[in-house]
Formats: sequence, C-alpha cells, structure tokens
Amino acid sequence: MILVFGSGGQLGQEILLAARSRAIPVTGVTRAEADVADAAAVEAALTAARPNLVVNAGAYTKVDKAETDEAEAFRANATGPGILGRACAAAGVPLVHVSTDYVFDGSQPGAYRESDPIAPLGVYGRSKAAGEAALREACDRHLILRTSWVYGIHGANFLKTMLRLAADRDELRVVADQRGCPTSTLDLADAILHAATRIRDGQTDFGTYHLAGQGVTTWHGFASRIVEAQAPLTGRTPLVVPITTPEYPTPARRPANSELDSSLFARTFGYTAKPWEERTDEAVKTLVG
Ligand SMILES: NC(=O)c1ccc[n+]([C@@H]2O[C@H](COP(=O)([O-])OP(=O)(O)OC[C@H]3O[C@@H](n4cnc5c(N)ncnc54)[C@H](OP(=O)(O)O)[C@@H]3O)[C@@H](O)[C@H]2O)c1
Repeated sequence: MILVFGSGGQLGQEILLAARSRAIPVTGVTRAEADVADAAAVEAALTAARPNLVVNAGAYTKVDKAETDEAEAFRANATGPGILGRACAAAGVPLVHVSTDYVFDGSQPGAYRESDPIAPLGVYGRSKAAGEAALREACDRHLILRTSWVYGIHGANFLKTMLRLAADRDELRVVADQRGCPTSTLDLADAILHAATRIRDGQTDFGTYHLAGQGVTTWHGFASRIVEAQAPLTGRTPLVVPITTPEYPTPARRPANSELDSSLFARTFGYTAKPWEERTDEAVKTLVG
C-alpha cells in the first residue's frame, strides 16, 4: 500500500489515478485530512493505512506569496518533511519526497546535477531546501526527487493559465529569459511508481535525484507551444510576445536557468520522462479537445 500525503494537489491526484489504473494499492490524504506538519495527524494516517511506501506530494507552492508568508511556507515545506521523515523512520517505511529546481540560483550556464551547490533565491526555495535537509537527517530510506515547472490536467498551473489567456486575449507577453524543463504530472507520477517498484524489490539507491521533462525551453517557448497546440482546436491564434524578467516583476526572484539534468535518475531507475513538447500537446488536447 502506498500512502500519498498532499493528495489534493496536481501531482497528488495524478499519483492516485496512475496507481489505481495499474491496480497498485494506494490511498491518499489531503491537507485537510493530514497536515504533514502535524505529527499526530501524520502518525494517525500511517497507523490507518499501514503503508509500505509513503509519498509526500504536499507542499506550500505559492512562490510569490511565500515571500510574505514565510512561517507557513516553512511549516509545510521544512517542518512537514522532518515530521514525515521521523514518522516513516520509526515505522520502517521508505519515503519519496518531491523537491524543486528553485533550490538553485540559476547562475550556472548548463543543466544542474544533484551534486551542484544549492543557493535558493527566495523563501519558497529556502523552505524546500530546508525540507530536504530535515528529511535527510530524519530518514535514511528516502528518495528526494527534484522536479521543475510542473503542469497537468488537475489543479492550477502555467499551462492552464496560458490556455485561459489564449481564449481571452490577442497578445500574451511571456518571459523569455528564464529557462527550465516543463514537467508533466504524468511523467512525475510514472517515475514515482517506477521507483516504488524498485523500492519494493529492494533494488533502490536511496538519495537525491533530478527528474524533469525531457528537453529545455523558456516560459515563452512553453507558452508558444501551448498556444500552437490549442490553435487548431479553438481557432484562437494570439501572438506570444517575448519579454524580459524586469518587464514582468514578481515578489519572488526566480532562477534564470533551472534546467535539471535527469540522467542520474535515468541510469539508476531506467526511467526517462517524455519530451516536454509531446506531453504539452497531450495535455492541451485533453483539456481543450
Ligand atoms: N508546481 C510546480 O511548478 C512545481 C515545481 C517544482 C517542484 N514542485 C513540487 O512538486 C510537489 C507537488 O506540487 P504540485 O504542483 O502538485 O502542487 P499543488 O498542486 O499546489 O499541490 C500541493 C498540495 O499540497 C497541499 N498542502 C499544502 N500544505 C500542506 C501541508 N502542510 N500538509 C499537507 N498537504 C499540504 C495543498 O493543499 P491546499 O491546496 O489545501 O493548500 C495541495 O493540495 C511539491 O513538492 C512542489 O514543491 C512543484
């Protein structure tokens, strides 16, 4: 039995669907049912489900709001993983935790590897980095999967925002000087279930891995692909205009480059995500077609 914390989010929902479609026993708890920063709630969820693997898909993910909501961001993203880690270690259950590309500052020109130094630029990234550290300290049998630019058909994300704007506006102005790897929740859920099988079979190298969609682009490149994919389905052809980061000021600074090198995960687990363009087209078709 896999127990998923934060199961109401876009990744959490996808993991439940993916597991059920493969007849893998799974149960999910939403934040309302078990807050990861509430030790008693975590304990009760573990006792009720008696899992052989725990996945933490719960997090405070509002990158800009976190700048003025530091306590809440750290509670969910740093205290929570520590509590989950200690509970899993005590119960003898391995834990898969999801982290972020925003632990890096983006100053490196190429793709980030797991061994590259972290230097988060904002509160969200710092809280996630603190969560990684708390989890490593609390639980040896952990997988930390750092991912990036997550989108899917459930919940809120950049792809859905672009579809909404494309329906209303004739021009979309999108940042073209931040690069990264759009990652489908389908690939992330698949990768997690793949790793779950390896863990069950005792074939796992626990530790920290990068797992993102294959390929790299900018937010402008991502938006252009989304708009291209929806055009034949909606007849809408808004212009996607490239702009710079200073032209779209946000409370939180974001890394200019957060490309993740996922080759260690591929070598270790034999799993590679699909090209981001393919997954983007699929998601648009599902949402609009
Ligand atoms: N979204 C991205 O672009 C992105 C990029 C890199 C990494 N990640 C990481 O990927 C993972 C999944 O993110 P996502 O995109 O699926 O985010 P999401 O759609 O925002 O879902 C996060 C879920 O976590 C829940 N949650 C918040 N605080 C919690 C707590 N204290 N205890 C339990 N659950 C809590 C939220 O519940 P409420 O809705 O009730 O608050 C929500 O259901 C996270 O670890 C995130 O940091 C995401």
